[in-house]
Amino acid sequence: RPLVILISGTGSNMQAIVRAAARGRWRERYGAAVAAVISNRPDAKGLAWAAQEGIATAVVDHTAYPSREAFDAALAAAIDQHDPQGRGLVVLAGFMRILTAGFVQRYEGRILNIHPSLLPAFPGLHTHRRAIEAGCRFAGATVHRVTAELDHGEYLEQAVVPILPGDTPETLAARVLTQEHLIYPRAIERLLAAACAAEG
Ligand code: GRF
Repeated sequence: RPLVILISGTGSNMQAIVRAAARGRWRERYGAAVAAVISNRPDAKGLAWAAQEGIATAVVDHTAYPSREAFDAALAAAIDQHDPQGRGLVVLAGFMRILTAGFVQRYEGRILNIHPSLLPAFPGLHTHRRAIEAGCRFAGATVHRVTAELDHGEYLEQAVVPILPGDTPETLAARVLTQEHLIYPRAIERLLAAACAAEG
């Protein structure tokens, strides 16, 4: 069961998942492994890290495509190269592209995302600044299945952190990111275990 992880930048969530897969022996226990890391940005730092780990990497540069549909088709082709049977998970980890409904439908049910807020609060961008400006006492992150509607879909895991006096979007982001690195691997492992149990 291949995991294909999509990133756009540092890929710290991707790194946490790669480490959890090794530490949790996902290959032996669930027949699952990170098959590829794909980025829409050629300069994404996570690509070099993944390559160092011996993981296949690919770039599908969104600026090289005339339309969202053309980009999504190229991205799907890259994903399917690493999961030809279409039985794996597509894991969006700091992936900063909005995917077309057609793309999401193609992977429906096996595409996940992590969003840096306690959904349904603060869908979209700049979540930490918005939470601070709203006077919230807490913030957090949500792992959810991806559906055609942005930042919706069944919630699989959430984590909450306090917003402290003097917090900036950066200090809050760092506190939330630490929790993201815990809940994303946990959510994936729970799905893999459930899939194995279902298959017997
Ligand atoms: C972070 O803001 C994280 O909350 C969100 O994407 C951004 C980068 O994550 N999921 P990563 O370090 O590239 O995984």
